[in-house]
Amino acid sequence: MCGIVGYVGARSVVDVVIDGLRRLEYRGYDSAGVALVYDPDAAASYLEFDKKAGKLANLEAVLAEQDRPLDAACGIGHTRWATHGVPSDRNAHPHLSADGRIALIHNGIIENFGQLRVELEAAGIEFLSDTDTEVAAHLLGREYAVDGDLTEAMTRVCARLEGAFTLLAVAADDPDTVVGARRNSPLVVGLGDGEYFLASDVAAFIAYTTEAIELGQDQIVTINRERGITVRGFDGQPSEGKPFSVDWDIAAAEKGGFETFMAKEIHEQPQAVADTLRGRIDETGQIVLDEVRMSDQDFRDIDKVFIVACGTSYHAGLVTKYAIEHWTRIPCEVELASEFRYRDPVLDRSTLVVVISQSGETMDTLMALRHAKDQKARVLAISNTVGSTIPRESDAVLYTRAGIEVAVASTKAFLTQLAACYLVGLHLAQVRGIKYADEVSAILDELVAAPGKIAKVIENLEPIRQMARDLAESKDGAARVLFIGRHVGYPVALEGALKLKELAYLHAEGFAAGELKHGPISLIEDGTPVVAIVPSPRGRSLLHDKIISNIQEVKARGAKVIAICEEGDAITASHADFVVETPASPTLLAPLLTTVPLQEFAIELATALGRDIDQPRNLAKSVTVE
Ligand code: F6R
Repeated sequence: MCGIVGYVGARSVVDVVIDGLRRLEYRGYDSAGVALVYDPDAAASYLEFDKKAGKLANLEAVLAEQDRPLDAACGIGHTRWATHGVPSDRNAHPHLSADGRIALIHNGIIENFGQLRVELEAAGIEFLSDTDTEVAAHLLGREYAVDGDLTEAMTRVCARLEGAFTLLAVAADDPDTVVGARRNSPLVVGLGDGEYFLASDVAAFIAYTTEAIELGQDQIVTINRERGITVRGFDGQPSEGKPFSVDWDIAAAEKGGFETFMAKEIHEQPQAVADTLRGRIDETGQIVLDEVRMSDQDFRDIDKVFIVACGTSYHAGLVTKYAIEHWTRIPCEVELASEFRYRDPVLDRSTLVVVISQSGETMDTLMALRHAKDQKARVLAISNTVGSTIPRESDAVLYTRAGIEVAVASTKAFLTQLAACYLVGLHLAQVRGIKYADEVSAILDELVAAPGKIAKVIENLEPIRQMARDLAESKDGAARVLFIGRHVGYPVALEGALKLKELAYLHAEGFAAGELKHGPISLIEDGTPVVAIVPSPRGRSLLHDKIISNIQEVKARGAKVIAICEEGDAITASHADFVVETPASPTLLAPLLTTVPLQEFAIELATALGRDIDQPRNLAKSVTVE
């Protein structure tokens, strides 16, 4: 949420900053801005800034008009997701100190900004925006005036701020320096050859370097063209970040011939799931979770599992509950992270809390994690982002290997979360003594076969695309779409509805199919599209029979049924208006396959309605506010 970039080095600063913002734009796209410090002669360095409401392209147009020189000594840039103050030119970042000599950008929320603003206004400072950020710019200006040291000034300012923030600042009088500060919001350092980057995430600089430093909580970092990097704590004491190498390449941050990042990411799913499984099942069929710093005995001691996450990641958790309870017989609860800590959940040392977060930065999930740790529970993170806050604060981590996910709507991250969650469930089953030994080993074989099956689903997406286009053209396309499922098909229905809501801005709802008759069935009118996620007719045929009844119920009231079912399921085909077949799979693993047509359905319907696929309105990828 909000993307920030800072750079010192020999390249064209404005190009590096704008390029970084382009790669971070998925974090927010309400407005964008840059501040550049020029040093044509040491006695007369100066600062320029430009900012503009709307997408980055608007800022680029302004920059082109201004024709700013390319040889700035350092610069910072920001792409915003509004929290305080509507998206507008005046609320866009950077914000300046009262004398205009310091520019500052911010990601997060400064909770005590109201009180600080009153104090600053009483001292005669005039505010030019409605943001919480501007108080930090003015405070920094005041502190900088004390000793002319930007790092010292930032340290004193941080001591006064409450809340979550990453701040970057430059000063007109210090043209080779960018100072950053981090509390509860992400900030990483990129290390090039005589050049340094600060950014919300590595996507901003992987075109230039893959060497990075992860900053800890409450740290201040200074990058200077001559002196390199220094890190200190908010207490002013010298400190260090943790070096790491980024294994994403720049191709991952490009569209690679696809119309949208989301389309590309849907197609990357077979590889992403295969990568997530790679090396984690040994030749004897044992799950090896070597990044997990918990012993087998720790896993044996667990008597309850909580899964805590938001949005799509929460849906991955809902699927996992079915798997964990079935394979291990350990009770498993799934909870929205934003609700978790407010309702006093019962946790202790023998509780395993699994937090799922693609970005590793979601504030709701981070706060839930901290609550769990306060209650002495063990926390296992499933995350896609090495070096992010949630994995760092957890007792153990299992990384998904989806690669960078740029589209705001999550696709490949979801499938890899499922794969990682299945591994955790199977590992729990193995270390605790397996109740369903044969089933677990068969499931492992099926899991390994999943990427090939996902690829088959992807090869066969044209019919659902056509279906979506037809729907967009029909009068029903602009109304509502319902999704129904049973068992693990229920969370898939929720995920299908979420994708459609966020991309197409349509009213879409997911329901447990059996619940329809308890109320929601009154939503059905002639022609209402109902997408049914149908379980395999093999094995759990009772479930299959029940959903066929639910399909009949909605059809009897005029619904148009689109069924996602297993190949060769003649019964479903005879009842539905339209069928999308997926390869046969064990029921618990079916979400790896049945989700994919729903992703494609959403993208195609949204495209036909002229929506922005990669950057839907009002959203941001990494939600770092509560
Ligand atoms: C929806 C989507 C969001 C995220 C949610 C959690 O497509 O992407 O619902 O799943 O904001 O984000 P993470 O997984 O980064 O914690």
